[in-house]
Amino acid sequence: MAHELTFSIIKPNAVKKNVMGDIIAHFEKSDLKIAAAKLTVLSRKKCEEFYAEHKERPFFGELVDFMTSGPVMLMALAGENAVMKNREIMGATDPKKAAPGTIRAKHGDSVGENAVHGSDSAASAERELALFFEKSEIVNR
Ligand code: RTP
Ligand code: MG
Repeated sequence: MAHELTFSIIKPNAVKKNVMGDIIAHFEKSDLKIAAAKLTVLSRKKCEEFYAEHKERPFFGELVDFMTSGPVMLMALAGENAVMKNREIMGATDPKKAAPGTIRAKHGDSVGENAVHGSDSAASAERELALFFEKSEIVNR
């Protein structure tokens, strides 16, 4: 297994609930290390670019409204098998279907407001990280 990077977002509902520390503790317990982090509010333009693959889906407008509704924490996470490991730690997209103990089971409020985003492949991770971070902003961990 390779040491790699993945892209993570703590979504606006989780920032609002003040559970960023608990979510980061999940990453740290699984040996994922923060290699870059930025607390920001996404512009609609950037958010639509990020979610371009979902442009034709019925929930696209709602998704962009929600993701631009308040601060988000953007992160690069580093570790062995980081992309798939992070998907496991997050749990299923729908918090009601997420395995007990996962981030979405604990902090997700609905399919839309599901607390976290994580890249679904190494290629997605590379594209997503490049949207939000300069190479020089990501440290070696
Ligand atoms: P993410 O990209 O956020 O890590 O989530 P995911 O891979 O588990 O889910 P994906 O299919 O990529 O969907 C992206 C995000 O869109 C929202 N969504 N809403 N209302 C709905 O039916 C619906 N379906 C998806 C979710 O916030 C999901 O995380
Ligand atoms: Mg996805």
